Amino acid sequence: MDMMTTTNSLKDQLIDRFGRRVNYLRISVTDRCDFRCVYCMEEEMTFVPRAQLLTLEELALIGQAFTELGVRKIRITGGEPLVRRDVDKLLRNLGRLPGLVELVMTTNASQLEKMAPALRAAGVKRINISLDSLDPERFRRITRVGDLDRVLRGIEAARQTGFGRIKLNSVILKNRNHDEVADLVRFAISKDLDITFIEEMPLGHNDDHDRAEVYYSSDRIRSDLEQVFTLIPTTENTGGPAKYFRMPDTDTRIGFISPHSHNFCGDCNRVRLTCEGRLLLCLGQEHSVDLRHVVRAYPGDMEKLKQAIHEAMEIKPEGHEFDLQAKPLIFRHMNATGG
Ligand code: GTP
Ligand code: 5AD
Ligand code: SF4
Repeated sequence: MDMMTTTNSLKDQLIDRFGRRVNYLRISVTDRCDFRCVYCMEEEMTFVPRAQLLTLEELALIGQAFTELGVRKIRITGGEPLVRRDVDKLLRNLGRLPGLVELVMTTNASQLEKMAPALRAAGVKRINISLDSLDPERFRRITRVGDLDRVLRGIEAARQTGFGRIKLNSVILKNRNHDEVADLVRFAISKDLDITFIEEMPLGHNDDHDRAEVYYSSDRIRSDLEQVFTLIPTTENTGGPAKYFRMPDTDTRIGFISPHSHNFCGDCNRVRLTCEGRLLLCLGQEHSVDLRHVVRAYPGDMEKLKQAIHEAMEIKPEGHEFDLQAKPLIFRHMNATGG
């Protein structure tokens, strides 16, 4: 990184009221998905009409504005990002942005077998892949429609493509997949991947289960794993909220994302853009700014766009208020933000 990018003037940085520096943008390119994971969506969902989506050009423009404001990492999410047509075109444009250090993606891997090389060629450095079970029937039960074999082929294709470290994401639910954590770690070790275990977050109505009933804390997962593996804490950081552990004799890292048991909002460095152009200042709150309005009211005006993003920092909330016992406060489902 050159001096210009490391010494941005205050005007060219995003700092919120709590002194947190925002340098990570998550862009949801679609709210659609070819799976229906029970913690993410309901069985029947209404999706954003295509006419309301930001165009690929508008997405690239907003990505550029953020990098000019000091964002160093952009993660492409969905829904499932690979179901958006021509997403590789967007990736190529973002991949060229000066100042961007990491272009990364979170995917369910269903399309990776055919898409992995194009993603790599477009400049995607790392990918995170959702995988909650290694049992085909359970996998189907959790994703409602997913085909495990296809996902495993997608993971294999990604491994052959030469990305940086690939990470699995597993949302752990009691009596659904909590007994698989050691097997998932063994799988990650055998494929030389990292793995992160995630506590389910209460976004949107859940028609499948009572979230408080299926809550399985990171500490319980960790103690289950410690029956089998030696976990050594490490301060390594991948820019997201995971806290990592290492094990002897393998490069695999085990991460924990624990919104309920170990709040990480104090270190928050990120904001999210929905596919309709709403800039969400916190995953667990509704504070947002309509960037689609800004790009359409002032076409091509980069300064106006940067000003709107800058001002948005004033309404970034201190943190979420997730409560598994209460009805969810946030009506939007996870597929609107891709996590
Ligand atoms: P790395 O770049 O590998 O660190 O990944 P990441 O954790 O930033 O991204 P990923 O898409 O893999 O996210 C994994 C999980 O973390 C998802 O379930 C997200 O919902 C959750 N997550 C990411 N950022 C936040 C956050 O700011 N707040 C909360 N509550 N959850 C988050
Ligand atoms: N709580 C926690 N994680 C979730 N994900 C989707 N919905 C939820 C939820 N309600 C995860 C997916 C994916 C990541 C982007 O978000 O497993 O890996
Ligand atoms: Fe940041 Fe909100 Fe996530 Fe907390 S819940 S880490 S404040 S986005």
